[in-house]
Amino acid sequence: MSSRRAPPAIRLGVNVDHVATIRQARGTAYPDPVEAAKLALAAGAASITLHLREDRRHIQDRDVAALVAHDARIVNLEMAVTEDMLRLACRWKPACVCLVPEKRVELTTEGGLDVAGQLDAVRDACARLARAGIQVALFIDADPLQLKAARRSGAPHLEIHTGRYADTRGRAQTAELQRIATFARTARRAGFEVHAGHGLTVDNVGAIARIPDIVELNIGHAIVARALTLGLPAAVAEMRRAMHEARAA
Ligand code: PXP
Repeated sequence: MSSRRAPPAIRLGVNVDHVATIRQARGTAYPDPVEAAKLALAAGAASITLHLREDRRHIQDRDVAALVAHDARIVNLEMAVTEDMLRLACRWKPACVCLVPEKRVELTTEGGLDVAGQLDAVRDACARLARAGIQVALFIDADPLQLKAARRSGAPHLEIHTGRYADTRGRAQTAELQRIATFARTARRAGFEVHAGHGLTVDNVGAIARIPDIVELNIGHAIVARALTLGLPAAVAEMRRAMHEARAA
């Protein structure tokens, strides 16, 4: 029998933003991110992330409301630290909120939240969300300065930004991985539950999933992209069947 202790379990949170991106591109009712969320949960996802952006480019208010109505316990709402968003979150009461920085022109969330630079606003937001019974995560870079500020924020969870790890290769990537692992250990020892996400794919997730201090990974773009290619043969076959059955009738 091996004497190695098993590392703690790791959960997958599936981000369904880009299901909504495809819907919004044509203004149709499909694909429905809430239906995608139900499929992801049935396939073993522990939670579902939706980022309600200020410009509503993908997820809409009705998506969040519908997913919360389905099961608020699995909803992780990503949002900026703004009055509008805080009001909506306190009304919907998802189980979790992840506070992120947001710039209108960015393609995706670029860099972590500057907790140190806006500690009062972040602390107020954490207190308000906690009063509504919502668990808060701060999405931050693996930066000791941000950790120091996060310790004064009242947030129980941190999500480490893995974007730079995902975008680098070779020595730079190894250094970034080491930085994330060290940060995760320090954050866990400081009492935070530690999550990570951004840019993770089946090819690069392994090294992050091996870090024992990280208990949750939130992954979206790569899963939705992979679903398109994995599901394409079935979608083509289904359409051909519908056409041929109509001809044969
Ligand atoms: N975590 C946070 C805080 C994010 O902003 C995002 C992107 O919306 C993700 C995780 C997921 O990133 P990706 O879509 O690259 O997997």
